[in-house]
Amino acid sequence: MKKVVLLGDGMIDVYHRCEVTRIAPEGPFPVLNELSSDYMLGGSFNVARQLLTFGFEVAPLVVLHDHQTFFKKYRLSSFREAQNYSKSLEFLFDSDIVSIKHRFTSLDKIIARWDIDSVAIPDHYDDLIISAVFEFKPDLIVFSDYNKGSLSDFLIKSVLSYASISNIITLVDPKPRADLGVYRGADVITPNLIEANLLMKSLGYLQNLDCSTILAILRDDLQIKRPVITLGSQGICCLNEFGDFVHSPVLQKDLFDVTGAGDAVISTLCYCLANDISLVDALAYANKAGGAVVGHLGNYCLSLEDIL
Ligand SMILES: Nc1ncnc2c1ncn2[C@@H]1O[C@H](COP(=O)(O)OP(=O)(O)OP(=O)(O)O)[C@@H](O)[C@H]1O
Ligand SMILES: [Mg+2]
Repeated sequence: MKKVVLLGDGMIDVYHRCEVTRIAPEGPFPVLNELSSDYMLGGSFNVARQLLTFGFEVAPLVVLHDHQTFFKKYRLSSFREAQNYSKSLEFLFDSDIVSIKHRFTSLDKIIARWDIDSVAIPDHYDDLIISAVFEFKPDLIVFSDYNKGSLSDFLIKSVLSYASISNIITLVDPKPRADLGVYRGADVITPNLIEANLLMKSLGYLQNLDCSTILAILRDDLQIKRPVITLGSQGICCLNEFGDFVHSPVLQKDLFDVTGAGDAVISTLCYCLANDISLVDALAYANKAGGAVVGHLGNYCLSLEDIL
């Protein structure tokens, strides 16, 4: 069983299924009556759950006040109880370092969202986390960066340089952050088009370059071995091993909920690279995965049958 370290920002997605009973007189805004609520793993926790389902041994970074109580509270204990879940990167803190996103739905449409962002992991945890990554001896390291403060620049750079000298495959799902150069040297990076343009800006290039130029810049300037750009309903693109531009289109799907599309892409690419599937073939699987996820409300967990 291949081993994956999952570094990133953990989240819980709460779906409140509501009915709109009336318009508030002090509004106008709708008054919601909750019918039921569902808790789902979000952010890096969603990627971790996906990789557990794909059969990896996964060590997710999880910093909480009390791990068992936390997952029990959100009715998500089965995540941590999976046989292939490793507690190697669990750390204790005064409070829970997790962002909570509440989504309110009515007639199966999301009508409002309320986010409670977590505090950052204090810098003095970096050395502990880096040592735990080394000790776990992963085959792959995935960064599911939502820039909520779990991953400091120092942590990302240190882990990437350790991985490159230890022949560990690294994949990064990036978010805009002050210094995007921290991802330098990763094997695979999967920005969406907006994030790719921000990367260009931070490297001093013009905006709105075409995708093949952006990919070549990511490869040459940021030394990303296999840069990928996700294009929403337009699919996904990369450069093949000869440096040619490859675009894999997606079958246009009715968009239900984009939550977790990027998580599905990074998890699927991780599975493919761990199983020696070429990046170009992996793009087609990643599109299938992204398409399956946007067709479901909430963070749909893919099975291998969904993508292969
Ligand atoms: N409307 C859509 N129809 C079909 N597939 C889609 C659609 N939107 C996204 N996808 C699939 O999901 C992948 C990732 O989507 P996108 O480029 O929007 O990533 P993202 O902005 O990083 O998403 P996220 O909000 O989850 O971070 C796409 O490459 C595609 O395969
Ligand atoms: Mg994304």
